[in-house]
Amino acid sequence: MRQQIERDGFASVDALTSAAEVARLVDVYDRLFDPDGPVGVQDRFELAGEPGQKALLPQVTNPERYAPELLETAAYRAATDIARSVLGEDVVPAGMHAIRKPAHDGAQTPWHQDEAYWDPRVEHHAVSIWMPLQPVTVGNGCMQFVPGSHRGPVLEHRLVSPDAHGLVLADLSVIREVVACPLPAGGATVHTGRTVHYTGPNATDAPRRALIMAFSRPTRPLAEPRSFGWQRPEWNS
Ligand code: NI
Repeated sequence: MRQQIERDGFASVDALTSAAEVARLVDVYDRLFDPDGPVGVQDRFELAGEPGQKALLPQVTNPERYAPELLETAAYRAATDIARSVLGEDVVPAGMHAIRKPAHDGAQTPWHQDEAYWDPRVEHHAVSIWMPLQPVTVGNGCMQFVPGSHRGPVLEHRLVSPDAHGLVLADLSVIREVVACPLPAGGATVHTGRTVHYTGPNATDAPRRALIMAFSRPTRPLAEPRSFGWQRPEWNS
């Protein structure tokens, strides 16, 4: 796994947890996205559509604050073990998030690098472990990666739209070779903070639920801090 991630920037595993745990997680997950559920407005975002319009790509950040049982799962333990094997024993949790693509018109998650969202003043060594709660294919939004893209710098991004919270690469000419990663429910992909990735629209009759668990080595300030002009000012304040 570690060698594959160093070479390609991503890898996948067929089973992070059992079908029984996945079934329990679906209930937890849907409660997080319930408009009357426990998640505060500060942790609900729309990544693709416009505020007040139909949700196309709703995201919940910090779901473990509202559903601490997410931290007590076999999936989380397995994800932590993977992160340790890739990054080393000193990994720390770097937060979870959940992205739900509604049936029929769930939007694409545009091509991006995760590090483009993160604090540009510090050095990041991180992996994100992306686990779907139903089988995923290209048709409902499985992960797609550009192999080797993790070896370069953080590329220029822009906001998907002025009011959205999603980012997209400013120049899509880096998207040449693409590898799609279909998975069974409870499988996972693992990618680094710089691996360029994407998920397509959900054209199926069922929502596409994905839970993302991030881990990093302890961060330290960069000697020469960067500035990511595409970020919203509130992201790293
Ligand atoms: Ni991402």
